[in-house]
Amino acid sequence: MSRKICITGASKGIGMAEAKLLSTQNELFLHASNIKSFKERGIKNAHYFAQDFTNIDNINDFVNELKEKTETLDVLVNNVGVMVIEKFSDFKDEDINKLITLNLHSQLLLTKKLIPLLLKSENPHIVFMSSMSAKNRIIGESVYAATKAGIMQFAHVLRNELAGKIRVSTIHSWGVNTWNDDENAAILVPENIAETLEFIISRERPFLVESIELGHENHWNGARALWSPE
Ligand SMILES: NC(=O)c1ccc[n+]([C@@H]2O[C@H](COP(=O)([O-])OP(=O)(O)OC[C@H]3O[C@@H](n4cnc5c(N)ncnc54)[C@H](OP(=O)(O)O)[C@@H]3O)[C@@H](O)[C@H]2O)c1
Repeated sequence: MSRKICITGASKGIGMAEAKLLSTQNELFLHASNIKSFKERGIKNAHYFAQDFTNIDNINDFVNELKEKTETLDVLVNNVGVMVIEKFSDFKDEDINKLITLNLHSQLLLTKKLIPLLLKSENPHIVFMSSMSAKNRIIGESVYAATKAGIMQFAHVLRNELAGKIRVSTIHSWGVNTWNDDENAAILVPENIAETLEFIISRERPFLVESIELGHENHWNGARALWSPE
């Protein structure tokens, strides 16, 4: 069944892997900060959009452009996000603003403005890309974790508010290899998140994957702590 799917942060990494996997059957609305970021624009049935979401006013431009292409939406994948790792006392003010605006504020605002389009669908779904950082205490990830925990909690409440109308799911992942050239790194690859997304949005109602945690079996957190017995 073909569905209209909007994915933010879709020019590379996880979002691009999701777009590739879902492209065979669906009509895609793909967003990034810069149109040139879409190195490959050959996906059949895809529309491409570019606005910098660190300027929150650009959300309106995106929604208006999207509405020129479609009046309804079946799936919104709130994938856009960046990571900055720094001890909090060393954090630059602009990086705090950037993380909160992009990872949290822009997702909430976009979701609010697209709910009317989703409500026109017979089987609408919103998926948020959170992180295992939301549930852990990793030094250097204070601001990132705050944004991802914010998304997690926002999604929990939204799921209840929209129950019976729009299904809301959250993906929490440990590291995904969008930033490491080491092929043997004990982290997931973007395609793992894409197949998880496909699984989530293809469940028949009323089955809802509320939230899912993903990791690599040899990842440090799944293996051994300093105090683990030999
Ligand atoms: N990679 C991981 O280890 C990991 C683990 C858990 C969760 N996540 C989450 O998964 C999501 C995707 O991560 P990723 O690693 O695939 O990221 P990525 O490879 O860095 O890709 C980020 C995407 O977001 C877009 N983007 C960045 N800044 C933007 C802006 N100012 N305005 C609009 N779009 C912007 C980029 O477009 P441009 O190229 O045009 O800027 C790109 O399409 C994020 O929410 C991240 O927090 C990642």
